[in-house]
Amino acid sequence: MTPCYILGIESSCDETAAAVVRADAPCGERVVSEVVLSQLEDHRPYGGVVPEIAARAHLSALQALVAEAMQRAGVGYGDLAAVAATGGPGLIGGVIVGVMAAKAIAMVHDKPFLAVNHLEGHALTPRLSHDVPFPYLLLLVSGGHCQLLVVEGVGQFRRLGTTIDDAAGEAFDKVAKMIGLGYPGGPAVQAAAVGGDPRRFDLPRPLKGRPGFDFSFSGLKAAVRRSIEQMPPGPLSAQDKSDLAASFQAALVDSTLDRVRRAVRHFRANWPQGTALVVAGGVAANAPLRAELTTLAAREGLDFVAPPLKWCTDNAAMIAWAAAERLALGQSDPLDFKPRPRWPLDPDAPKARGAGAVKA
Ligand code: KG4
Ligand code: ZN
Repeated sequence: MTPCYILGIESSCDETAAAVVRADAPCGERVVSEVVLSQLEDHRPYGGVVPEIAARAHLSALQALVAEAMQRAGVGYGDLAAVAATGGPGLIGGVIVGVMAAKAIAMVHDKPFLAVNHLEGHALTPRLSHDVPFPYLLLLVSGGHCQLLVVEGVGQFRRLGTTIDDAAGEAFDKVAKMIGLGYPGGPAVQAAAVGGDPRRFDLPRPLKGRPGFDFSFSGLKAAVRRSIEQMPPGPLSAQDKSDLAASFQAALVDSTLDRVRRAVRHFRANWPQGTALVVAGGVAANAPLRAELTTLAAREGLDFVAPPLKWCTDNAAMIAWAAAERLALGQSDPLDFKPRPRWPLDPDAPKARGAGAVKA
């Protein structure tokens, strides 16, 4: 049988990435090569991603990165079954760079082209690493998104809830900045929290106990700011920082768990054939959150599945894999596909009030 190699490209935010996935291999052996170039250092001085800098960095890095992924895989362009790139949602300059590159390769080598929804990439990653059957309940938590979705199939999503203000990762990043912990905030907050007292600051648990499955983090963020303002003037001590980080992280995990617990019960009642709770997105790297989700899933009789960390954050293997799933269903996209800055997974879901929409 001819191996089914798919080249994937990711460039929707601040990682330029290329990967070759073998769709017909057993899980665990599917990712043949992957290269990720983080632009972290380019953006660090600004404390966040600068879209124009990101687009230029993608443009200068992508060609060499794709060549490297192909070379490491030992695969020629003629051997590919398809070429895929993130088609949105994301920072549009970067998305255009990746889509143009994938279209050019597809056109020159006469291969199918697939424009992959970045969120679908995150959402299908558990099937790259674990072969999870549909339907499953997905908590997608990243710098730009915070959603609970039922993944019923490829391209079939039911959004149960989303954030009405900040995304979870965004809250980590903003709070880290307030405390003076640097960027990106999530790993810094997690590390600082290790020696901290999570009970020193009495922070709110937004929406806890309320109906529905939505999230909210801006009140929590504001409460952290107030706590800092109420401290004696002068720089925060290392212990103050740790206590703030621990108190914030505990509150965020607690209110997130409340929403997930409700969603798990709804999922079990309405999709009784479902067997798994899955987490994806950069915040899935958070150890206390993972631990709580593991316990919750076990208590509720679901398997807990978390892809390896390198596939939780932005990467190209997830884009190649989502393309593989679509290709297996006979799908591909026309070469006049237009990159989409916004691209909801569940177009029928009611619009969230103020959800972060750009960073995925
Ligand atoms: O999915 P991702 O790599 O990029 C997009 O947002 O698309 O997620 C990045 C986000 C950042 O907000 C970062 O602070 C957060 O994930 N993050 C974490 C951790 N590692 C990364 N948040 C909490 N704890 C972590 N260990
Ligand atoms: Zn992402």
